[in-house]
Order: sequence, then C-alpha cells, then structure tokens
Amino acid sequence: MIECRDLRKLYQMGNVGVRALDGIDLTIDKGEFVGIKGPSGSGKSTLLHMLGLLDIPTSGDITLDGIDVKTLNDYQKTMFRLYKLGYVFQDYALVPELTVAENVSLPAMLRSGRTEEEFQAATEDILERVGLSDRRDHLQKELSGGEQQRVAIARAIVNRPDILFADEPCANLDTENSTMVLNLFDEINHDMHQTIVMVSHEDWHKKYFHRIIRLRDGKIVEK
Ligand SMILES: Nc1ncnc2c1ncn2[C@@H]1O[C@H](COP(=O)(O)OP(=O)(O)O)[C@@H](O)[C@H]1O
Ligand SMILES: [Mg+2]
Repeated sequence: MIECRDLRKLYQMGNVGVRALDGIDLTIDKGEFVGIKGPSGSGKSTLLHMLGLLDIPTSGDITLDGIDVKTLNDYQKTMFRLYKLGYVFQDYALVPELTVAENVSLPAMLRSGRTEEEFQAATEDILERVGLSDRRDHLQKELSGGEQQRVAIARAIVNRPDILFADEPCANLDTENSTMVLNLFDEINHDMHQTIVMVSHEDWHKKYFHRIIRLRDGKIVEK
C-alpha cells in the first residue's frame, strides 16, 4: 500500500545542508494504523509530507497503491491527493468564513462526476459519524478545539481516501478531546478499513497504534 525505498530529503539553508530524511525504507500495509514517533526535528513531518505527496524527496522511491509516484505529473498528483489521500494537521486548517458543512463539502465538491445531492449526502453522512450534525451551520470560531479537529477529520475522510495522514492532530487538544479524536481514528480504521499514518509524541497514544515507527536524525531506529 505504502512503500518507500532509500528516501532522502536534504534541505539546503545557505551553506548548511540538513538531512531531514536520511535513507528511509518502509512498508505500510493496507488497513494499518501506524504511529510515527521521534524527537522534535527528527523528520516526522517531512516523512509525512513526502508520503502524502505534499513535497518532493531529494532522492528515493515512493510507491502508493502500486503506483510509482515519480511517474505522476502535477495534475495526476493533485487528483491522486483528492481521490486517495486525506490530511489532518495540528492547527485544523479550516476555512473560517465557511460553515462546518461547507468545510466538509469542499473536497467532496471538487470530485468530478457527483451531483449536488450526492456530495451533500456524503457530507451529512460523515458529519453524523463524527458527531457534529447539530453543528453543521456553525462557523469555526463558534467551535471548541476538539470540535474543530473533528470537522477537519470529517473533511479529510469525506471522499473515503485510501490513506489518512495526520500530523500531531492532538497537539492542541486536552486529554478528553484527544481521546475522542483517537477513538474516531480507531473507528474509521475498523469500519472503513482505513490506513492511517499518524505522527504523535504523546506516549499514551501508543495503545491505539498497531505499530510504531520511530525516527531519529532522519533515520528509522525502530519499525
Ligand atoms: N522547509 C524547511 N527548510 C529547511 N529545513 C527544514 C524545513 N522543514 C524541515 N526542516 C528541517 O528538517 C529537519 C526535520 O524537520 P521535521 O520533519 O519538521 O521534524 P519533526 O516533524 O520530527 O519535528 C529539522 O532539522 C528541520 O529544521
Ligand atoms: Mg513535525
């Protein structure tokens, strides 16, 4: 499902090169719920960005769903992201002027070949699943942090992506809301057979993960 071979990312800052990823070999199977851990600066976000096709590695190979992503042009990558991948970030990244339902509808609308009724139905269905049907007409500023993150998760899964990437989705949440988010991930992992790759540095999250991949200095030290 996800495979990478000798993945490297070098950031050049003037004369200084930072090896953010220094030869990563990894296979993640369909339906796995994987945690990525490691100290700050160890390359977790960089790895997620490369696997999620949000940035381009310096060298190495990434295969998603049997497709060598190097063979995709920009348009094909955009379509791949829209149809097959979902993202959740620590700062929610909602559109503040749009309601909850409109935020969640956005990726559903962008998919071609769907009638308005179909994407509305998909939106209502997902809002129900994340327990926010009664908040559908609210704006971001009227929601708690936990609710905002559930909207972001609804938006990330409305197109039923094959892979969900989450970069420290609980970093700004208290324990109760973090538990709600993790339980939601656990549910969609079970019910939708959703592959989830989640960066976390909270130790207590580990009971949710099927497996932990640990990074240090851009290298895998445990997988
Ligand atoms: N856009 C960038 N430009 C330059 N250096 C970067 C950039 N993004 C990340 N880095 C560097 O790459 C290393 C890994 O960063 P990151 O993947 O964000 O780590 P983590 O998510 O584990 O905290 C760090 O040394 C960081 O400073
Ligand atoms: Mg990070």
